[in-house]
Amino acid sequence: MKIAFAGAGYIINIHAKAARALADVELAAVVEKYPDRSAEFAKKFRIKRIYETVDDLLKAGGVDALVIGTPNFLHASQAIAALEAGVHVLVEKPMAQDVRQAEKMIEASEKSGAKLMVAHCWRFDKDVNWLKDQTGKLGKIIRTKGYGVHAHWGPSGWFTQKALAGGGAMADMGIHAIDTARYLLNDPKPVSVFAKLGTHYTDFDVDDTGVVFIEWENGTSSYVESGWWQPHTDGPEAATQLYGTQGFGQLFPTQVELPNAEAQKVETIKSGFKFPRKEQCPQSMYDTQMAYFLKCIRENLVPVPGGAEGLVNMKVIEAAYQSNREGRVVEVK
Ligand SMILES: NC(=O)c1ccc[n+]([C@@H]2O[C@H](COP(=O)([O-])OP(=O)(O)OC[C@H]3O[C@@H](n4cnc5c(N)ncnc54)[C@H](O)[C@@H]3O)[C@@H](O)[C@H]2O)c1
Repeated sequence: MKIAFAGAGYIINIHAKAARALADVELAAVVEKYPDRSAEFAKKFRIKRIYETVDDLLKAGGVDALVIGTPNFLHASQAIAALEAGVHVLVEKPMAQDVRQAEKMIEASEKSGAKLMVAHCWRFDKDVNWLKDQTGKLGKIIRTKGYGVHAHWGPSGWFTQKALAGGGAMADMGIHAIDTARYLLNDPKPVSVFAKLGTHYTDFDVDDTGVVFIEWENGTSSYVESGWWQPHTDGPEAATQLYGTQGFGQLFPTQVELPNAEAQKVETIKSGFKFPRKEQCPQSMYDTQMAYFLKCIRENLVPVPGGAEGLVNMKVIEAAYQSNREGRVVEVK
């Protein structure tokens, strides 16, 4: 399997490490705008082929898959070009800048048959999957609370420019907590979204502060906080709490609490996973994600999270921005 990488920045280094660790995989090419970055990346991962654009890579051919970790405004055009050329795509979150672009990416994948996977990485995390396995003990989950917040820091550069990023902290960080909640709830469809977003800690033209309230088709509600440069966060990235009729579950620290009214006590089942972690976003999560992407290609499986899951997240994000602009609840179709 010959894999190419678009962007030679922070996340692509993590994806390349993940790919390098797998058998029968060749790190074949890199596409990067800045020659010094591509040269350094190519040297580090012993990559022979270097291109400045995805079109040049596709013209040259000879790759099976493309991992896209460029600024958000490039995701749709680069993914569509690759998919139309029959090259499988793993694209970073947010999959696109808006719903329309996301739909076009899905269309391109359906037309060519090339796989489209979206890197909603928390679905591959061991704590998240431990909690998902426990959800049957919680009864009906009534509400969830989650966090996609950076306290005392935030990104710079293209992340903070609307034209290049699409959105701010809600699109960048809130999306992690939204997708984690949805995964833990078994991927319900959103019905409505209400959000309050703002820019209070920086002078960027995107949001650095947000709350969003999502109502799902199964009656569950999710509350998610997003932020950069916040003075405090109640939980690290993707931390999520589940309030069920029969119990409570949470990530980071990861455990469930099951009240027993008769015995007048609460039984706590601990995951046994360490908290706080050495790294909140561990390499192992991305390793599992990459292995799954390749498995989907080899075994001809529809990736989950794929275009369908990425699109739902884009619908929630787009509705959140609309809700904030219009000051009302926005229905999601
Ligand atoms: N899942 C996660 O945990 C996670 C973490 C960080 C970033 N991300 C996502 O990954 C993507 C990249 O983020 P990052 O932090 O790696 O950013 P980054 O700025 O570190 O890297 C982006 C790279 O793309 C390059 N680039 C810019 N224009 C290009 C072009 N036209 N063609 C090719 N390369 C080009 C830049 O020079 C840079 O090297 C974003 O969508 C972000 O949301 C995901």
